[in-house]
Amino acid sequence: MVLLKLENIQAGYDDNIVLDNFNLEVQEGELVSFLGPSGCGKTTTLRVIAGFVTPDKGKVYFSGQDYTPLSVHKKNFGFVFQSYALFPHLSVYDNVAFGLKMRNVNRPEKDKRVKDILEMVGLERLIDRYPGELSGGQQQRVALARALVIKPDLLLLDEPLSNLDAKLRLQMRREIKSLQSKLGVTTVYVTHDQEECFSISDRVVIMRDGKIEQYDSPEKIYDNPGTSFVAEFVGFKNFFDCTFNQDNLVDLGGVKFEIATERIMPSTRGEKEITCGIRPGDIELISKKEADKTSKMNRMSGEIMLSTYLGDEYEYVVAGEKQEIIINCPSDTKIKQGEKVELYFPPDKLIGVK
Ligand SMILES: Nc1ncnc2c1ncn2[C@@H]1O[C@H](COP(=O)(O)OP(=O)(O)OP(=O)(O)O)[C@@H](O)[C@H]1O
Ligand SMILES: [Mg+2]
Repeated sequence: MVLLKLENIQAGYDDNIVLDNFNLEVQEGELVSFLGPSGCGKTTTLRVIAGFVTPDKGKVYFSGQDYTPLSVHKKNFGFVFQSYALFPHLSVYDNVAFGLKMRNVNRPEKDKRVKDILEMVGLERLIDRYPGELSGGQQQRVALARALVIKPDLLLLDEPLSNLDAKLRLQMRREIKSLQSKLGVTTVYVTHDQEECFSISDRVVIMRDGKIEQYDSPEKIYDNPGTSFVAEFVGFKNFFDCTFNQDNLVDLGGVKFEIATERIMPSTRGEKEITCGIRPGDIELISKKEADKTSKMNRMSGEIMLSTYLGDEYEYVVAGEKQEIIINCPSDTKIKQGEKVELYFPPDKLIGVK
């Protein structure tokens, strides 16, 4: 069932239109993430959903009802903002109880719910502390508890882990995912961290300049990025401007690539000039002997310019015939700078995008 629906939304600030004709549907119980570069409109979209920004055009529906005219406090939504802003003068208990107080929940019920949720986020022992006496991760959990304690119909999280170090981010993102599925609360999550986004989401919105570039499951986006913009988010580092020869054959200034038909994305339909992309780890090195035998299709020769040790693999920058290429090889294949290499681009690993 569609729980949240944004229909033809136009919204922004004064004469700065951020979202234009923006449409989105979120199913009940889903965790949908927004991923996109800074300034593309992720926070603005959350503000529109929450009701902090009123759209100039279009409608926000929740459970089939028109929520557009409702003010923020009329909606039972929980938020964690980009800077999670706890009340510094209130204890953990009072921070978490805040939303319940606003809703006039009686004392025993309030005590129980605050205690339960603090237990869930592992902070029950810190109930009397003040935000200034907590670590970043603990403050983050208080913010999350404060959003969850009201049993929100919708949870809106804006980069909730941005202030944490790498280890804590990982731990918290697991906790958020497990809490979210345990409580079954429909969640819209904003981040600009690709890994974080893909690991916790049921579906991902890739956003660019106030528009949805792709909306799909993480697996679909990873395997079939629809455009070069999306491909860059999911690890494609090599892009070639090519011309369509016919069907699945493209030409890069004399170098011919065959691309598996299902890897040519609909965005290229009707286009003569397209972009081919490939991940660094999908390019194969072929030996001199093999190179003489096999066809010249999907190949390029080059020279190693730079190598970087990444632990389990090396990254090489190769000066290719037509342009620079980045390849990754297992760490047992050490190639010297200046060495000549022959590269093979498997047809099922290339993508054709606009
Ligand atoms: N209060 C405001 N007044 C005017 N313009 C704003 C305001 N807030 C955001 N903007 C502008 O709206 C656009 C979208 O901003 P938004 O905060 O939605 O981006 P974002 O995707 O959340 O970025 P980030 O990843 O940096 O948080 C930007 O160009 C921004 O400068
Ligand atoms: Mg933002």
